[in-house]
Amino acid sequence: MGHCVLLTLAALFTVASTQFIPPYTEDCRAQMYPPNGPTFKGGVSWYTVDLDLPPSKRWSALITDKKTELVNMIQAIRDLANAFVPSGKLIDLVDITLPLMVDTLPSPFGEEIKGIAAVSGVPLGEVVLFNIFYEVFTVCTSIVAEDDKGNLFHGRNLDFGLFMGWDVKNKSWIISEKLKPLVVNLDFKKNNQTVFKSTNFAGYVGMLTGIKPHVFTLTMNERFSLDGGYIGILEWILGKRDGMWMSFLTRSVLENANSYEEAKIRLAQTKLLAPAYFILGGNQTGQGCIITRSRLLSLDILEIDLKLDRWYVLETNYDHWKEPLFLDDRRTPAKKCMNQTSQKNISLKTMYDVLSTKPVLNKVSHRSTFFFQLSSKSEKPASEFNRDDS
Ligand SMILES: *[C@@H]1O[C@H](CO)[C@@H](O)[C@H](O)[C@H]1NC(C)=O
Ligand SMILES: *[C@@H]1O[C@H](CO)[C@@H](O)[C@H](O)[C@H]1NC(C)=O
Ligand SMILES: *[C@@H]1O[C@H](CO)[C@@H](O)[C@H](O)[C@H]1NC(C)=O
Ligand SMILES: *[C@@H]1O[C@H](CO)[C@@H](O)[C@H](O)[C@H]1NC(C)=O
Ligand SMILES: *[C@@H]1O[C@H](CO)[C@@H](O)[C@H](O)[C@H]1NC(C)=O
Repeated sequence: MGHCVLLTLAALFTVASTQFIPPYTEDCRAQMYPPNGPTFKGGVSWYTVDLDLPPSKRWSALITDKKTELVNMIQAIRDLANAFVPSGKLIDLVDITLPLMVDTLPSPFGEEIKGIAAVSGVPLGEVVLFNIFYEVFTVCTSIVAEDDKGNLFHGRNLDFGLFMGWDVKNKSWIISEKLKPLVVNLDFKKNNQTVFKSTNFAGYVGMLTGIKPHVFTLTMNERFSLDGGYIGILEWILGKRDGMWMSFLTRSVLENANSYEEAKIRLAQTKLLAPAYFILGGNQTGQGCIITRSRLLSLDILEIDLKLDRWYVLETNYDHWKEPLFLDDRRTPAKKCMNQTSQKNISLKTMYDVLSTKPVLNKVSHRSTFFFQLSSKSEKPASEFNRDDS
């Protein structure tokens, strides 16, 4: 396990120092919606996850469909690991040690992961690895905005697989390429009724992006910190297990919380394994916030406040009260474009323009998942699509 941590850190360091592409800013884009052009791959397919099934069976239909893509992605992770530690020792370690961890995961996640391994034929340890480590490599922007009629919009893009092996020939992140075909829309049902919906990667049981229809929307962004993910994960492995995995918490909140306020309290107060930003939207005016989390507690909650002229909240991967890393300032351009759009003109369409403007959608990002209008007056169906910007 220690090797995994070192490997990923080494990968990050190597790539960041040699391949990092400095961000650049362009004018705010307009008329990007609906997405089209040569790189648009069309809508993402929907799958139902039936929560009334036993956990080990819930993902069977999806994984049966996406087996080849999942195996290809796992193979790319293996290749990457073998490039760092030739001999295959690293993956051996994963195959031996991580299956021991699966029974320590809270219910129902361990059982679901076992079910995914069984259906896909991917070794259990490697499915666990995918579920616990990949969120370390996402970079995102999330926005909740309220228009002048009280409608709320929640958008996000997700740049994933960053730093996971740079393909020199076609200038892309190898893992990112392999993750793309795994993007799916999920409809989680109980008693044949939707409980919540999400856009996710097949094989991954936590949630990064979701909507509880008519109630709230939720996205999670990674928060880098010295007291970061690795410490909590290592503690978990060593037996100190009082924190919650972040994307398991988001899923549990989507499944069980019944109001914006309840979701907010659980996201702010549950002890976590790693720091995170939770971006939450509600179903009525003023309900939009960014919860900045340390592992132990909520450090700050920034809310929409129309009296202060704060009609949107926007989070990338830096604390909102601090300057972003100068190499990676996606916040200033996004705010500039939000300000330019103005509260009167914000909509699903114009928010998509903001999320499509570089460097918000930076050079290395391959897919942008855009989400949800949720308002007190009307709720349009979740509007999701993916944009391939390579
Ligand atoms: C990049 O290269 C890999 C093989 O190295 C290939 O599978 C993939 O399709 C290529 N991607 C693009 C966008 O050309
Ligand atoms: C579930 O709901 C769908 C429509 O929402 C309906 O077509 C289907 O028959 C229902 N299935 C069961 C088992 O009730
Ligand atoms: C908003 O959510 C609350 C809590 O679930 C619910 O009571 C209320 O009816 C919802 N409002 C709308 C307009 O859906
Ligand atoms: C956007 O508008 C807000 C509120 O007026 C202001 O505080 C902020 O500096 C503006 N940001 C940019 C980048 O224009
Ligand atoms: C806002 O929308 C109106 C029309 O609805 C348009 O005339 C105006 O130029 C737009 N403003 C901006 C800043 O896009």
